[in-house]
Amino acid sequence: MMDCNRRIVAPSMLASDWARVGEEARRAEASGGDWLHLDVMDGHFVGNISFGPQFVAAVRPEVRMPLDVHLMIERPDVYFPRFVEAGADGITVHVEADHDVKDTLSRIREAGCRNGLAISPDTPFDAVLPYLDGIDLLLVMTVRPGFGGQAFMEAETMPKVAAGREERERRGLAYHIEVDGGIDEATAAVAARHGANVLVAGTSLFKAPDMASAIAAMRVA
Ligand code: DX5
Ligand code: ZN
Repeated sequence: MMDCNRRIVAPSMLASDWARVGEEARRAEASGGDWLHLDVMDGHFVGNISFGPQFVAAVRPEVRMPLDVHLMIERPDVYFPRFVEAGADGITVHVEADHDVKDTLSRIREAGCRNGLAISPDTPFDAVLPYLDGIDLLLVMTVRPGFGGQAFMEAETMPKVAAGREERERRGLAYHIEVDGGIDEATAAVAARHGANVLVAGTSLFKAPDMASAIAAMRVA
């Protein structure tokens, strides 16, 4: 069974130098990153376009760490198999996207990946309640999805992290709780206190003067 208390730091490639993607991925691994977070945006579900399965496939041979693919796309049910083929280890889909959530989550597992369910800041926690018994990871977005470098939305999102932990304990479930957006050493401490164990960070790690010490600080925050 997974260890929901193990602290996992996941550098987000969105904030890396895309002219040197392989080198940046290796730098994240050499600096102590546990998972590599990859943000896929389609210009429909969010107001930004990032990259697709070919980018994920290009990064795959560069590192050994698990690839944590976050799909901010309107039809994750249609496109997730391409990310499985590209080498994703975990695939997270949004509860707000246009798909049969339960079916997509079980198909991701059947394909041999860890599944994740993401909830945006404006969506009430109740939206994920029906799916908690079938997930490996709950992603509580701590900014509105679409762009890196935004400010951590503590008041709107920390009650959801706490609710995720409460439901997990109350119902004897097992899933990671991940936070994503505006995470640095200080906000990591806040999120961890509320129950998050997987910390995604783009700007605060890739733009840090020393990524290894930034990761180390986040690990104990
Ligand atoms: C935002 C993405 C995040 C992004 C976080 O929609 O899901 O993963 O990379 O970036 P920072 O850490 O800069 O807020
Ligand atoms: Zn993300």
